[in-house]
Amino acid sequence: MSPYAHITGWGMAVPENVLTNFELEKIVATSDEWIISHSGIRERRIAQDGQTCSSLASEAALKALELANVYPTDVDLIIVATSSPDQIFPATACSVQDAIGAKNAGAFDLSAACTGFIYALDMASNAIRSGSIKTALVIGSETLSRFVNWQDRNTCILFGDGAGAFVLQASQEPGGFLGSVLRSDGSGADLLTLPAGGSKQPASPTTVKNGSHYIQMKGREVFRFATRVMAQSTTEVVQKANLNLQDIQLIVPHQANQRIIETAAKSLNFPLERIMINIDRYGNTSTASIPIAVCEAVQNGKINQGDRIVFVAFGAGLTYGAALVQWSGPLPVKRKVHPARYRWFARLRSLTLRWWRRIEGWIWGKHA
Ligand code: UT7
Repeated sequence: MSPYAHITGWGMAVPENVLTNFELEKIVATSDEWIISHSGIRERRIAQDGQTCSSLASEAALKALELANVYPTDVDLIIVATSSPDQIFPATACSVQDAIGAKNAGAFDLSAACTGFIYALDMASNAIRSGSIKTALVIGSETLSRFVNWQDRNTCILFGDGAGAFVLQASQEPGGFLGSVLRSDGSGADLLTLPAGGSKQPASPTTVKNGSHYIQMKGREVFRFATRVMAQSTTEVVQKANLNLQDIQLIVPHQANQRIIETAAKSLNFPLERIMINIDRYGNTSTASIPIAVCEAVQNGKINQGDRIVFVAFGAGLTYGAALVQWSGPLPVKRKVHPARYRWFARLRSLTLRWWRRIEGWIWGKHA
């Protein structure tokens, strides 16, 4: 019998640095009142110098592994969903693999903007269900503050930095990932984009002068699209599993705008108390928003074993989609994991490898 893919660990990492609406008032022509009434955001976290997409992702991943009681060396696959990777290549997921010491894992980045975490969850779950892997790390991680034009009040008030991670494990116990709906509408690509720095518009003094290396967004149009597809994807994923909305205990939506979430709840006729919202404290952390919201929902007792939960998102692409899961929690295991020790081992291993490559290069250079 093919296995089920269970979420057995979860973890989040956000920078300590808080940027409030009041502080933003000093940077651009905006106000705390406008930001709260138009988006629901009060503050967001901003990565400090040295903090990167991969470092936040690694921190969240280690917390998720600790909770799941899984050794990094047992991980078969790492997917990092992100729109703000450390660099175009190599993949941020490879840096995470090295940092946490997951030496048996394949690793790649997934680009589906804010819907990325749902896409990644689907890919990893189906790899587990097919029997090709047993354990996966699915991570959403962002440092969007590095791609925001701090003079553009249409965008700079919205985004925040952070990461969230899930451990997925194979088990014959029914539950876990129950299904998903993944969609895109590329005709809306220009509504939310970071135009420069790719092969179509390589970075140049002109692209920098034009500000094309910053996020550009037609907020109104994205808003209209979002309110339509959030409710549509939720309905579709629930119907696909032969369930109805009464069978769903919690919806965890992408935290882009409180008004979008409220509009979707209204058109679904779903009680707002059963929708997880924490946008006020983190802003829009893109791929990280759903796993961060899940971590806080568990902490606040909003998620219990056996609950059926819908994750739903939309984003640049335009992409959208939803996933339905039955909450399981950590699988029973006897061993004890010490992630702090792993971090130390992983760092030592990485430094030793680096030095070894240097010595090798020096020897081969001498004998060439
Ligand atoms: O993960 C996906 C990411 N993207 C999104 O989710 C974006 C979805 N869209 C939105 O969340 C909303 O469209 C925004 C919050 C971005 C904007 O809210 P809105 O109600 O759609 O405002 P608007 O863009 O239509 O602008 C209304 C007015 C404009 O002034 P005028 O032309 O009416 O005089 C803007 O210039 O508000 C002005 N405005 C601001 N005023 C104060 C725009 N941004 C600001 C601001 N502070 N930060």
